[in-house]
Amino acid sequence: MAILLDGKALAFEIKAELKTRVDKLKAAGRKVGLAAVLVGNNPASEVYVRNKAKFSEEIGVHSEIVRPPANITTIGLITVVLALNDRADITGIIVQSPLPKKIDEREVSEAVLPYKDVDGFHPQNLGRLFLGRPNFIPCTPAAILELLNRYGHSPAGKHCVIVGRGKIVGKPLAIMLLEKAFGNATVTICHSATRDLSHHTRQADILIAATGAPHLIKGDMVREGAVVIDVGINRIEDKSNPKGYRLVGDVDFDSVSKKAAAITPVPGGVGPMTVAVLLSNTVRAAEKSRK
Ligand code: GUN
Repeated sequence: MAILLDGKALAFEIKAELKTRVDKLKAAGRKVGLAAVLVGNNPASEVYVRNKAKFSEEIGVHSEIVRPPANITTIGLITVVLALNDRADITGIIVQSPLPKKIDEREVSEAVLPYKDVDGFHPQNLGRLFLGRPNFIPCTPAAILELLNRYGHSPAGKHCVIVGRGKIVGKPLAIMLLEKAFGNATVTICHSATRDLSHHTRQADILIAATGAPHLIKGDMVREGAVVIDVGINRIEDKSNPKGYRLVGDVDFDSVSKKAAAITPVPGGVGPMTVAVLLSNTVRAAEKSRK
């Protein structure tokens, strides 16, 4: 049976480390604040933003959820972001994804000042990552690396197979795992057009699933002794649950945990670590700020 990579417990450790840094900043009269811009009422986004606000408060970081009207235009949303750029008490800004379809997400993420872009989605930050000179790195890929390293599963020299090529996880993670100073791993990226997916996944020393397809990865697709990271958070109908649904990952935990050496649970794996990295980026933004 696989060892559980407990992201919740690690996030708790990181919380204490960050609180010390926030206390130091505040003692020096410096401000630390995170603004999350949330458009619409996507239930998953509501949960993420609430978790980010809760973590912020627990470490003494000022947190604001900005809720523009659901029918806001791209220009209107950019104006909201520009106003946050101008505020000295807001050191980190995130625009929660997904945005309504008619909004140009790329234009909005480009409006965030790169040194307040704690999600690491601005082209300047992504470009720097690509060039091996990162500033803010996307939170979920950074969370995965932190989780692997803190549990003693350094990716260096290993074969990491990523399933998923999204801009929030798959693509930036591939770059980070490849980079000598971060992962220093051999990297394979698979996606929806990959032929014979299980041929590739079975080669993985470290397998990362970030597709949004519930239970895509089954036990027979995983090598004995592999480390498996499940990034998926999918709602599936469950009439036995009072909520009418339950959360499952992209990995079929029951069959994969019998083969893997270590595996992240869903929930309680990558999710809490992502929030911890976001706040770590926010604290770093404040430490680097000259104000
Ligand atoms: N939606 C899903 N993951 C993320 C994230 O890390 N940041 C933002 N802003 N939106 C998301």
